[in-house]
Amino acid sequence: MKTAMITGVTGQDGSYLAELLLNKGYAVHGVVRRASTLNTSRIEHLIAESSGGLQLHYGDLSDSSSLRRLVDAIQPDEIYNLAAQSHVRVSFDQPEYTADVTGTGVLRLLEAIRAHHEHGGRMPKLYQAGSSEMFGSAGAPQNEETRFEPRSPYACAKVYAHYQVVNYRESYGMFAANGILFNHESPRRGESFVTRKITLAAARIQLGLQDKLYLGNLDAKRDWGFAGDYVDAMWRMLQLDEPGDYVVATGVTASIRDFLELTFQHIGLDWQKYVEIDPRFYRPAEVDHLEGDASRARDVLGWTATTDLKALAVMMVDADLNLVKREQKLLGVDELEAG
Ligand code: NAP
Ligand code: GDD
Repeated sequence: MKTAMITGVTGQDGSYLAELLLNKGYAVHGVVRRASTLNTSRIEHLIAESSGGLQLHYGDLSDSSSLRRLVDAIQPDEIYNLAAQSHVRVSFDQPEYTADVTGTGVLRLLEAIRAHHEHGGRMPKLYQAGSSEMFGSAGAPQNEETRFEPRSPYACAKVYAHYQVVNYRESYGMFAANGILFNHESPRRGESFVTRKITLAAARIQLGLQDKLYLGNLDAKRDWGFAGDYVDAMWRMLQLDEPGDYVVATGVTASIRDFLELTFQHIGLDWQKYVEIDPRFYRPAEVDHLEGDASRARDVLGWTATTDLKALAVMMVDADLNLVKREQKLLGVDELEAG
């Protein structure tokens, strides 16, 4: 049985990856940061179902001692580093914090692995969650040979992490792989990312709980895939004999407008009646056009995306309609009980 350690296990990707690895028979250890409210809602079902499967440990990418202690204690075969301050807009408000967690945090993890190995431990394989945001203003389509032209503190931090991974691979012979993943979404996507913000608002509008949806730039283009597909590509990268860097994408790009169209079409409403522009959601610098060329992932990993944008939008709206209906029902029950 293999042992995996996942940082960022409470996030969107962490939850899908933990499921995938548990299904493959791995012992899975997740690193959770302490919060004043529970942050395990995406993985609650895994903790309950998998006795001896998913185990959680406190740790933080800003705390090197916790990383070192966890690598020593867990002795993982594979480490998936998914933890990050992952919101691009927020990175403009908190640039130093983003650099520390999303950039230097990766260096701390690499050092923890190196120290573990130098003190007689095995060298685990490492997956680093890189991002298409690193391409920034580079022309589309983007692949592994495309120059990084980062346009946000988040992207700069990811570029730093990318090169540290390459450097540790070359300096210490570490098996460390950079996934360069384009945007991927799901019903578990954080509610402040644009696709989920749209599908949740559409569900609430449909059910009469919301009148307006305020958004920023509708012209940006993204290459959106389904998160469930993308965690499989992460796993495949660590099953190779040689480490490498891989773009993971659908190869199809669409604008925020297109996503609005698909989402509202599904519930039979005209998005233009509900959406208003709020400049608060603009960014100091924008990434205009992301469109990935994932040929290397297809040829070497045998990976391709299975879910197109329409299917993704429908999946997310339907999940949000169910979620909002359940919340309405719970609220009704509570009100009855209170009354
Ligand atoms: P997400 O939902 O925002 O999850 C981020 C995870 O990182 C959460 O578990 C979060 O914990 C944890 N975290 C944040 N700060 C931390 C710290 N200081 N120490 C330890 N853990 C910390 O992100 P995601 O969409 O799953 O993405 C996973 C990774 O892939 C991220 O590194 C992201 O930058 C990268 N990426 C994502 C995409 C995408 O489209 N989703 C594309 C390319 C790359 P809490 O739950 O406590 O907040
Ligand atoms: N979040 C948000 N909120 N974005 C908006 C809004 C809004 O109200 N209105 C328009 N947008 C536009 C943004 O300006 C951006 O061009 C696009 O929608 C996508 O924004 P996000 O969904 O926040 O994602 P992102 O592309 O900035 O970043 C995501 O993908 C990266 C990979 O390319 C994140 O998951 C990153 O962690 C990831 O690395």
